[in-house]
Amino acid sequence: MPSRLFLPDVLAGQVAVVTGGGTGIGAAITRELVGQGARVVIASRKPEHYARAAEGLSAELGVEVLGLPLDIRDRDSVEAFVGAVVDKLGRIDVLVNNGGGQFLAPAETIRPKGWDAVVQTNLTGTWNLTRAVFDRVMGERGGRVINITMLTSRGFPGMAHSVAARAGVEAMSRTLAVEWAPRRVLVNCVAPGLILSSGMNNYPDGASVAQAMQAEVPLKRLGSVQEVAELVAFLAGPGGAYITGQTLVVDGGRSMWGNTWPLPDDGDPPPVVIPKEPWEA
Ligand SMILES: NC(=O)c1ccc[n+]([C@@H]2O[C@H](COP(=O)([O-])OP(=O)(O)OC[C@H]3O[C@@H](n4cnc5c(N)ncnc54)[C@H](OP(=O)(O)O)[C@@H]3O)[C@@H](O)[C@H]2O)c1
Repeated sequence: MPSRLFLPDVLAGQVAVVTGGGTGIGAAITRELVGQGARVVIASRKPEHYARAAEGLSAELGVEVLGLPLDIRDRDSVEAFVGAVVDKLGRIDVLVNNGGGQFLAPAETIRPKGWDAVVQTNLTGTWNLTRAVFDRVMGERGGRVINITMLTSRGFPGMAHSVAARAGVEAMSRTLAVEWAPRRVLVNCVAPGLILSSGMNNYPDGASVAQAMQAEVPLKRLGSVQEVAELVAFLAGPGGAYITGQTLVVDGGRSMWGNTWPLPDDGDPPPVVIPKEPWEA
């Protein structure tokens, strides 16, 4: 479904890379950017994601969407991927670092291997690809980098590893926005709240947890992948030309309100005695 917001060819002539573009939010971003006229390359580890989606989206949209292998944790894979895109399409104007993942776990159960894997994917992986694209093309030609993060302002109980990594990406983005402003590289983050995507299947009881979580969102529903994709497309297009170093939140108000983690009931709280001023005691 093409955009409800943009002229169909506003990104004509531009090349966009969307990591994790074969599933969920990334697939919606791909569809939206293609709808605006960009050539889009989707990239991830598993052919059943990137190759199947490239084929499916090409058939659906009537435009060729490329799918290539990429593991953002592996610097050799990152170099090979960026080289392949530049060889095939000659440029990269928009980089959407959407690929990522984590598992739900109380902090005391996260093992070193699990922590390292989540930080390597979501923080170091984002850095690896961003830096490779900057070195190869954007440092000379400019461009837009859009990092998909998560809600970080209240922490994220149950995901200490991922929220630490995503807050790192947000701080890195503010830093790069300044350092790379002279190169005309704009760097922003989009932080989704609870979004109804196929990625929910990665969590045990994902559908029923998502159903219950709706009550904890001020707008009383989950967001759609399209609602994230349209903001990414806005940042990639002319509307985003003067926005850099920002984190834009798409969450129906979730970051400001709602229970995030049940705390044990410790019985009656201590009695409240309103203090007098010391000289009145
Ligand atoms: N849905 C939500 O409510 C929500 C909320 C906040 C943030 N997010 C974040 O938004 C992004 C997209 O989420 P989603 O819901 O669409 O989940 P998803 O379908 O699980 O998407 C994750 C994508 O990342 C790719 N990926 C994972 N590790 C990778 C790696 N090392 N190298 C390259 N690609 C990799 C996966 O493809 P392969 O398996 O083929 O590699 C997959 O396509 C994720 O970063 C997610 O954590 C989602």
